[in-house]
Amino acid sequence: MQDGKTAVRDDKAIENRLAIDGGKPVRTEPLPLEFPGVQHMDDEEVQAVNRVMRSRSLFRYYGVNLQKEVETFESEFAKFLGVSHAVAVSSGTGALNVALSALGVGPGQEVIVPAYMWISVAAAVVNHGAIPVLADIDDTFCLDPKSLEERISSKTTGIIVVHMSGAPADVKAIQEIGRHHNLFLLEDCAQCVGGTIKGQRVGTFGNIATFSFQMNKNMTSGEGGCVVTNNLRLYHRAFASHDLGYARDDQGRLNLSDPDLCLWGQGYRLDELRGAVLRVQLRKLPKIIASMHRSKYRIRKALGNFSQIQLRKIVDPEGDTGSFLITTYADPETASRVNEALRAEGIVTFPQGISNVLMTEWGLHLYYNIAGLMKRTSIDRRGFPWSLADNSGLRIQYSKGTCPVADSLFERSIILAIPSSLTEREEDDIIHAFEKVYKALLAS
Ligand SMILES: Cc1ncc(COP(=O)(O)O)c(C=O)c1O
Repeated sequence: MQDGKTAVRDDKAIENRLAIDGGKPVRTEPLPLEFPGVQHMDDEEVQAVNRVMRSRSLFRYYGVNLQKEVETFESEFAKFLGVSHAVAVSSGTGALNVALSALGVGPGQEVIVPAYMWISVAAAVVNHGAIPVLADIDDTFCLDPKSLEERISSKTTGIIVVHMSGAPADVKAIQEIGRHHNLFLLEDCAQCVGGTIKGQRVGTFGNIATFSFQMNKNMTSGEGGCVVTNNLRLYHRAFASHDLGYARDDQGRLNLSDPDLCLWGQGYRLDELRGAVLRVQLRKLPKIIASMHRSKYRIRKALGNFSQIQLRKIVDPEGDTGSFLITTYADPETASRVNEALRAEGIVTFPQGISNVLMTEWGLHLYYNIAGLMKRTSIDRRGFPWSLADNSGLRIQYSKGTCPVADSLFERSIILAIPSSLTEREEDDIIHAFEKVYKALLAS
């Protein structure tokens, strides 16, 4: 017969047994889906869309009863960031293309991009006929200023810094280096809309910046993006590039007479429906960010007690939008085991299940997963842009190992999306699952 003490000990052992080893999981319900802006959508967005539909004016430049939603969004977004000019576009990828066209990027130029990014960053450089040169990241998971400096050559024309996974890069240090070497600085803020460093919004440090409002982003209209700058010439060029290559007058009519603005347009105009949705989402953005930030920092605080879990270095915690939590472990096997165990505890969304993965599973964010870079694929049959004479002698090196710090961090880290609608109970579950896994697998 069992005595009382043994029974309690057995209960404790069952409670502590990991779900992966047949124990009871912390959660059986999926966590909420991550899409931050979507979680806060309600009748306000519906009304905004209805307003545009009733106006029967879906094109930004003219219509039956034009509401000027896109134009108003541009002013409101520029004001929110504290920049002079904004051009709304139909995607973050489009924004990158427009920004590089505005900057005049082309063959014979190297543009430095970080090892952790999104395929669109490399694609925009390649589509312009220039060569992306990889620089390593550091424990901020963003461009490492030291690696950046090492990879600058006489052919380098600019830097694309990407504020990854919700938190700003060390953009001030990067800005200094850019200025010192007379390079342009493009900030890709797709994953960090609304982030700040010492109160200054990301997107206001470089010469030009891009944003995405695709559905995974902090605010969304399903698809959408924006290019912002304080430089009037860059604005005019971005504006022309996103449209038909020319300026427009106040009435939205094309102005073909400006010899400086006779470019090649790329057709990335935003429509009024999405402009109207974005105006509502922008008003909600502070609340969306505050919610993710609160959840993430409550979890981070609890994880701070676990010495075997390394937390991502955050340049300015106040300015982190909070959309992702990255934790790093001693070696790849431990990271993999922890991730598997957390997922078994129910720290995952269903059915997609991509809200909590090993970073090596994080697809086209990792330079060595971008097959087009590895294989140097081309759009044409003649090997554009790799084979261009202007590009001969430029550094074309993308194989795994090019960025060793990134390689090691990707293998040893896991990334968990922090939904913008987490309840305290759900935060408790995440903390409890980490604690359970920590005690079983990591605590010595
Ligand atoms: C860093 C980064 N840049 C650019 C983009 C491209 O944005 P979009 O999907 O709106 O084209 C994304 C989208 O995921 C991104 O994460």
